[in-house]
Amino acid sequence: MSSALHFAYLVIPLWLSWSVANDLNDIFFSGSDDGVEVYSNMSLAEGDHITKPGCPSKCGNLTVPYPFGVGINSGCSINPFFDISCNASFNPPKAFLGSDQLEVEGIYDTKIYIKNRPAFNCFDKSGKLANESHFSMNLSGTPFSLSNENKLTVIGCDDFSALTTTAYDYDNYLGLCVAICNKTQDLSNGSCSGIGCCQASIPKGLQVIYLEVSKLNDQNAVQSFNPCGYSFLAEQNSYEFQISDISVDSSLVNKTVGTLPLVIDWAIGHRNCNQIQNTKDFICQGKSVCVDSDTVLGGYRCICSQGYKGNPYLSPGCQDINECEYNLCHEKAICTNLPGSYDCACNHGYYGDGEHDGTGCIFVPSPTKNTLYAGLLIGSVSFLALLLSFWVYKVLKRRKANKLKQKYFKRNGGLMLQQQISAHDHVLEKIRNFTAKELERATDRFNESRIIGKGGQGTVYKGMLSDGRIIAVKKSKQIDKNDQLAEFINEVVILSQINHRNVVKLLGCCLETEVPLLVYEFISNGTLFGLIHDQSTGFPFSWEMRLRIAAEVANALSYLHHATSIPIYHRDMKTNNILLDEKYRAKLADFGISKSVTVDQTHLTTKVKGTFGYLDPEYFQTSKFTGKSDVYSFGVVLVELLTGQKPISTSVTEEERSLVTRFLSAMEENRLQTILDSQIIEQSVDEEILTVAKLAKRCLNLNGRKRPNIREVAMELDSIRTCENPSIVESHIQEISWVETESLVFSEDRIA
Ligand SMILES: *[C@@H]1O[C@H](CO)[C@@H](O)[C@H](O)[C@H]1NC(C)=O
Ligand SMILES: *[C@@H]1O[C@H](CO)[C@@H](O)[C@H](O)[C@H]1NC(C)=O
Ligand SMILES: *[C@@H]1O[C@H](CO)[C@@H](O)[C@H](O)[C@H]1NC(C)=O
Ligand SMILES: *[C@@H]1O[C@H](CO)[C@@H](O)[C@H](O)[C@H]1NC(C)=O
Ligand SMILES: *[C@@H]1O[C@H](CO)[C@@H](O)[C@H](O)[C@H]1NC(C)=O
Ligand SMILES: *[C@@H]1O[C@H](CO)[C@@H](O)[C@H](O)[C@H]1NC(C)=O
Ligand SMILES: *[C@@H]1O[C@H](CO)[C@@H](O)[C@H](O)[C@H]1NC(C)=O
Ligand SMILES: *[C@@H]1O[C@H](CO)[C@@H](O)[C@H](O)[C@H]1NC(C)=O
Repeated sequence: MSSALHFAYLVIPLWLSWSVANDLNDIFFSGSDDGVEVYSNMSLAEGDHITKPGCPSKCGNLTVPYPFGVGINSGCSINPFFDISCNASFNPPKAFLGSDQLEVEGIYDTKIYIKNRPAFNCFDKSGKLANESHFSMNLSGTPFSLSNENKLTVIGCDDFSALTTTAYDYDNYLGLCVAICNKTQDLSNGSCSGIGCCQASIPKGLQVIYLEVSKLNDQNAVQSFNPCGYSFLAEQNSYEFQISDISVDSSLVNKTVGTLPLVIDWAIGHRNCNQIQNTKDFICQGKSVCVDSDTVLGGYRCICSQGYKGNPYLSPGCQDINECEYNLCHEKAICTNLPGSYDCACNHGYYGDGEHDGTGCIFVPSPTKNTLYAGLLIGSVSFLALLLSFWVYKVLKRRKANKLKQKYFKRNGGLMLQQQISAHDHVLEKIRNFTAKELERATDRFNESRIIGKGGQGTVYKGMLSDGRIIAVKKSKQIDKNDQLAEFINEVVILSQINHRNVVKLLGCCLETEVPLLVYEFISNGTLFGLIHDQSTGFPFSWEMRLRIAAEVANALSYLHHATSIPIYHRDMKTNNILLDEKYRAKLADFGISKSVTVDQTHLTTKVKGTFGYLDPEYFQTSKFTGKSDVYSFGVVLVELLTGQKPISTSVTEEERSLVTRFLSAMEENRLQTILDSQIIEQSVDEEILTVAKLAKRCLNLNGRKRPNIREVAMELDSIRTCENPSIVESHIQEISWVETESLVFSEDRIA
């Protein structure tokens, strides 16, 4: 429940202070890249353009889409192989293909269906051959071949059938099946495993075939109930064995011819996409892609790009699918058709991805003006929504495969984020929603060599976007607690509101990965901590520079505390969170545990967070974080700059461990020189150092109320830099300097 409180705190002020943006969905969910899978195996015959202009689109009941065409040498097809001769002496007219006069029953994207013919041989009661038939087909030289979707089926009780290229060439069969049985009682409906019925696969890509059926043992015993051997090639699963079929009469022949199609594969030409693209023969039109044919013959086909339909072989190519006709959006969302995709935008007051099988649209009431009750109500409603979305996330996480999981995390994280930052429409436009792919490419798949930092919240990688911009990508630790997700979202919320030259810029985020990613401008020169404490650099860190960095940080903090519409407390102020750019300008970073507070709230009661050594002792004892707690931490940063020592050193005795204690006692005993960084003693004006040291001491006052606020600190640092020392600041210093002495003794005891 403590995390619930945590959340409510965060949510209520946000909802109280801002109004809800209408177009949030546009910000986070537009340009959805999950297209619809409205794929049809008959897409050639869809749309307005299915034949060349002026060509008939039908032969009897058969639709003939381009690249096929009705009429021998009519010019309606792509080439004579695709000519369909239409014989009108039948009613309805029949369509035939090729020199073998194969009767065409259906034309699809990759295959055509041909009217079937069986092979059989029948014997009369005396054992004499009564009638026989074989089936042969010669597609040699054409772009057509027998599909391996066909199966060889044999029906009989003493029969076998071999699929060959020429008659009786049993040694070189391409498919073989044997069916035997002793009596009809052995047979069962639907079973085709060798007893009375047999089925076998055939290879792909055959063009010349000869199919016949023969007696196996001349067993006359079965003659009475099985006068014929019977065999055919047909689309797999189209045939189911019936016991009655064993008698082989004209109804079985009618069934074979009428309902069991033979499948033929087709493709364009014999060259694959690589070979044909960029030649004049290539015919795939707009919004379509080329795919290699998977038949043995080679060749290629065109298919419409995702979200498009129509005939890809004919100008003007494939047409946009209006997905909005498919009812894919939630009832509270408005569907907008986009080229190749669509967008579901939830109605005003509703949030979610708007999709029927996504999160849909969830109602979140608008906040009324600054009433606490409304705030509480909304806070709890949105908290429930957060909880709900988290629950949805958890359930889905368990159930879905990894890919789907990511997709849903996007929705859930996105939903939560959306609710949190719903108000900040004007700043949010700047936050870009990066795709996972983009960031993977940018960081070389999160290569270890790209790691530039690891911290409590996650790992930071250096990367480069395709436009050449250098970025830093923060990959959060595995998010499995509400707390952590809140911290992540909090950082997005806070940083999206801030635009200050000394605060690191958030460029965007990515919610579609398992853990959320934040994308920042890349700051090239490491941290202030590194500059102060990493002796190996040998970089001369001048007093002037230290003073400038201190002033910059103070100004950034002052901006956060005083210039934003509501105060933002950093709450984890330390040299590790101060980055330095190429000109060693300070950039404040890591806002994960920062908080915004309403103006009438002077402090936050929270679980104590922050970094030991920088923590305000008052906050530590009372759990009340105020703006002055940031001031204390900033004081520690000042002391670090003055002394070049770490806030907590492990090499000294217990009571000496705290840098603050050592600094304050040195100040007290008037021996500041003993603790200062040797680098700065030589090069700087003593007076300046003393002023900064006094300022630091005031920042470190145990009593928060006696510390200056950060704006005063920033002004004072600025004035030291410009050596102006305005009288206001001066008198201010005088005014409080007598108070601090008494509190110092007190504070020393506590800190030690
Ligand atoms: C086309 O696809 C539908 C759905 O996947 C399927 O039911 C139908 O049998 C297919 N038709 C052909 C000719 O492959
Ligand atoms: C073919 O068309 C005729 C009318 O031209 C119609 O009566 C018949 O049902 C159709 N057959 C099929 C299989 O669609
Ligand atoms: C149409 O079919 C009939 C009957 O099979 C045949 O006699 C005739 O020659 C065919 N016509 C054409 C143009 O193929
Ligand atoms: C198949 O047709 C081709 C050309 O049309 C011919 O050269 C070949 O001999 C035929 N094959 C058979 C087995 O009939
Ligand atoms: C048919 O009968 C013979 C001899 O009775 C037996 O060997 C054979 O296994 C039987 N075949 C089937 C398929 O039942
Ligand atoms: C086999 O199926 C036919 C038709 O569906 C049915 O009349 C017959 O009773 C079935 N025979 C057995 C043994 O199930
Ligand atoms: C074969 O001929 C016999 C007798 O002429 C006839 O009863 C039977 O239906 C025919 N079989 C087929 C498959 O045409
Ligand atoms: C099979 O078809 C022929 C002609 O197409 C027809 O005369 C015969 O009655 C049919 N047989 C059965 C059993 O339907």
